Amino acid sequence: MKNGKIKIGIIGAGNIAQSSHIPSYLKQDDVELTAVCDIKLERAQEVAKKYGFKYAVQDYRDLLSIDEIDAVSICTWNNSHAPIAIAAANAGKHILCEKPMAMTVAEAEAMADAAAKSGKVFMMAFVNRFRADSKYLKALADEGRFGEIYCSKAGWLRRRGTPLGWFTDTAKSGGGPVIDIGVHVIDLTWYLMGKPKPTRVSAQTYYKIGDYKTKGVSRWVAFDTDNLVFNTEDSAQAIIHFENGATMLFDVSWAINGEGSPDIYCHLYGTKAGATLDPLKIYGEDGGYLSDAVPVLKNENRFDNEIRHFLDCIKESKEPIATAEDGVLIQKILNGIYDSAKLGKEVSLVD
Ligand SMILES: NC(=O)c1ccc[n+]([C@@H]2O[C@H](COP(=O)([O-])OP(=O)(O)OC[C@H]3O[C@@H](n4cnc5c(N)ncnc54)[C@H](O)[C@@H]3O)[C@@H](O)[C@H]2O)c1
Repeated sequence: MKNGKIKIGIIGAGNIAQSSHIPSYLKQDDVELTAVCDIKLERAQEVAKKYGFKYAVQDYRDLLSIDEIDAVSICTWNNSHAPIAIAAANAGKHILCEKPMAMTVAEAEAMADAAAKSGKVFMMAFVNRFRADSKYLKALADEGRFGEIYCSKAGWLRRRGTPLGWFTDTAKSGGGPVIDIGVHVIDLTWYLMGKPKPTRVSAQTYYKIGDYKTKGVSRWVAFDTDNLVFNTEDSAQAIIHFENGATMLFDVSWAINGEGSPDIYCHLYGTKAGATLDPLKIYGEDGGYLSDAVPVLKNENRFDNEIRHFLDCIKESKEPIATAEDGVLIQKILNGIYDSAKLGKEVSLVD
């Protein structure tokens, strides 16, 4: 780090890099966008030109060999998070890794090991932890305002919202809505519950609507939409059990014939009070009566908050709030859902 500036390398110059990581880095005074990498070299070159990166490369190993780079954002397809993160850790870079951490638990564990050995910051981009309402709920949970949170519901139902591109190709994504958007709600709800240790899961995945032709609906579109494959699930349900006796009911869909949720939803049920997201509401008692509270919070940009936290962790050598260990436990739940659905029975998440 020179002149107090953290030099950043972006690996994967597609949608999330261009819509969120790069704009959020650009709002910070203490970073320099140094290099960008994409297997499509022209894409890396275009992005370098547009945002002022010094280098554009095609192979992530070339980016990692640039000495001056302090930190990388991994924004590639899910199938390359593990090899890139392990190489980046071995090259001594701080890492912000897009969700999901990996495709398998073994990959996630190898990433966590490499990151621990490097002594550098490894942060999971669990961006929903950085929303204003999530931060508020986390503070209330830590103060004990909910008492014991003994059960929860977590989900994200899209009526029609299957992403277009590599997301539906298991070889590149590792799975469908469970690993794509389910990861967000499972992580957020688990985090707000106090990160209890997951012990077992029972799940079912479905492929019932698949490649629909519904008009008038919008979807997340990856940069490349050629070579389309659809071999993931399109919805799923699960019950996840934790060591402290708590449970999480989970449902998720890219396409389902029912009312979709506008974004994630999360219900926390505690012995003293409960809460929901989205929208934020606290369910308690006041003066002996049931009472609902709707706190008024200023909207915050979750990606800006996430990037700022990553940079602060680097500068202050502190542990991020979304660690590699968190990523591994979430990966165990995600892969446990797939294993349970495949085997047709509850599976243990304990080694
Ligand atoms: N946090 C969020 O809300 C959020 C939203 C969307 C996507 N994501 C995650 O971000 C990642 C990227 O998704 P996207 O929507 O930007 O996809 P995308 O296809 O638009 O962009 C990915 C880019 O990575 C490049 N790439 C793939 N493998 C590479 C490799 N080995 N080396 C270098 N470049 C490589 C591709 O050519 C492409 O340009 C995924 O892990 C996805 O789950 C997160």
